[in-house]
Amino acid sequence: MHKPLLHVLTGHREKVPPIWLMRQAGRYLPEYRELRRRAGNFLELCFNPELAAEVTLQPIRRFGFDAAILFSDILVIPHALGQRVSFEEGEGPRLDAINDPAALARLRHEIDQQSLAAIYDTIERARSKLPAEVALIGFCGAPWTVATYMIAGAGTTDQAPARLFAYRFPEAFTALIDVLVEASASYLIRQFAAGVEVVQIFDTWAGILPAGEFERWCIKPCARIVERVRKEIPDAKIIGFPRGAASGLRHFLDEVAVDAVGIDWTAELGFVRDQIQPVRPIQGNLDPLVLMAGGSALDRSIDAILAAFSSRPFIFNLGHGVLPDTPIAHVEQLLARVRGAASG
Ligand code: CP3
Repeated sequence: MHKPLLHVLTGHREKVPPIWLMRQAGRYLPEYRELRRRAGNFLELCFNPELAAEVTLQPIRRFGFDAAILFSDILVIPHALGQRVSFEEGEGPRLDAINDPAALARLRHEIDQQSLAAIYDTIERARSKLPAEVALIGFCGAPWTVATYMIAGAGTTDQAPARLFAYRFPEAFTALIDVLVEASASYLIRQFAAGVEVVQIFDTWAGILPAGEFERWCIKPCARIVERVRKEIPDAKIIGFPRGAASGLRHFLDEVAVDAVGIDWTAELGFVRDQIQPVRPIQGNLDPLVLMAGGSALDRSIDAILAAFSSRPFIFNLGHGVLPDTPIAHVEQLLARVRGAASG
């Protein structure tokens, strides 16, 4: 069975680039909002295999994307390490903040795989219901990004709590990153065993780090996760997404053996085309806000991306997740233009 996404990840160009969107399942879809109401809170939805598999499939049914992404969240890992995690309506995640090494020492050193069993069940259910040509993507947060939420206890704009913690308590922070490397690798290995064909490592907050810290807390831990996963599954397909890495992208790719790299919307198209795409297939990088705006601004942005990236291996995606206020008609416009323009 020809799967366009996997074909690109093995280094081939597809005439019509495969397309999926980060956060393609979520609040912009009425069918998601309906199911979310029935599930109660967000984590209960993530841990309900029947409903989570259904949410995974919703955007495939509606739009026919080339890949489905497992419906879950990166913060199930802190949860599996024994940290309390909740999602407050309209406020984002809340965790018990970690202010000093003593608080860290109270967490588990290994994930409780039992507490993640429902997620592997979701993967099996989703895979069995997906059309054969649609790839199923699993994921985890990169250690740095997961650590920013674990330390701050919430989302912040500058990740100051985690950056300060790493400067003040380098040994304790290194120990946390080590725990997260091991946890993430074993989590991804189990996702492959359950039926995902690709995984993406989300380092959403990579771009906030000074260069030396970027190497230490983004590049090295991601490289170790890839090595650990490939030791068990030599041909595991892995996409890295060091958001905001900018000129650090080349360094990332020199050290992290991912099959493709996600590009955020701020990256300059010419730089990516000339410096990054010759090294590895790329995925990206439409601004989620232009998808929300729609109209001719959307058409122009799509055309610029296709013109820059279509001659080499390329996966069309956003530069970050779909925003909740995005009109469904704009997603339809996007798909029609990518598939129409590239094939016509
Ligand atoms: O992409 C997908 O469709 C798959 C599901 C997915 C979710 N979160 C569902 C979700 C994935 C891959 C994630 C990853 C994730 N989660 C990241 C990395 C990528 C990124 O977006 O930066 C991060 C940093 C998180 C942590 C997280 N989860 C935050 C900060 C929030 C609150 C912000 C928000 O959008 O509400 C969440 C909640 C969350 N994760 C929702 C969804 C659909 C919204 C929850 C709801 O329905 O109320």
